[in-house]
Amino acid sequence: MFIRENKLCASDEAITFDFEGQVIEARLGDTVASALLLAGVRITRTTPISGASRAPYCMMGTCFECLMTIDGQPDRQACLIIAKDGMKVQQQLMSPGSDHD
Ligand code: FES
Repeated sequence: MFIRENKLCASDEAITFDFEGQVIEARLGDTVASALLLAGVRITRTTPISGASRAPYCMMGTCFECLMTIDGQPDRQACLIIAKDGMKVQQQLMSPGSDHD
């Protein structure tokens, strides 16, 4: 379970963005990955080799487990992207043996 540490919040201003048709509430300054984890979303992508589910791990841009399609652009690191009001976020799902879609 993830909780927000209020002392560290940059802002109390609320924003919302779309994740797979679901409205996600975040605060100005949240990254996409942190907002999704707080909302209970655990899967950001699947692997092209086995199709295994992956989730944000390092939260600092080194593991690449948080790759998502954000506003139509694939391979975005959700842990490094600041959530913006109205953005559209999708899981990056790949079947075994598939190329990028
Ligand atoms: S969670 Fe590791 S690169 Fe984003």
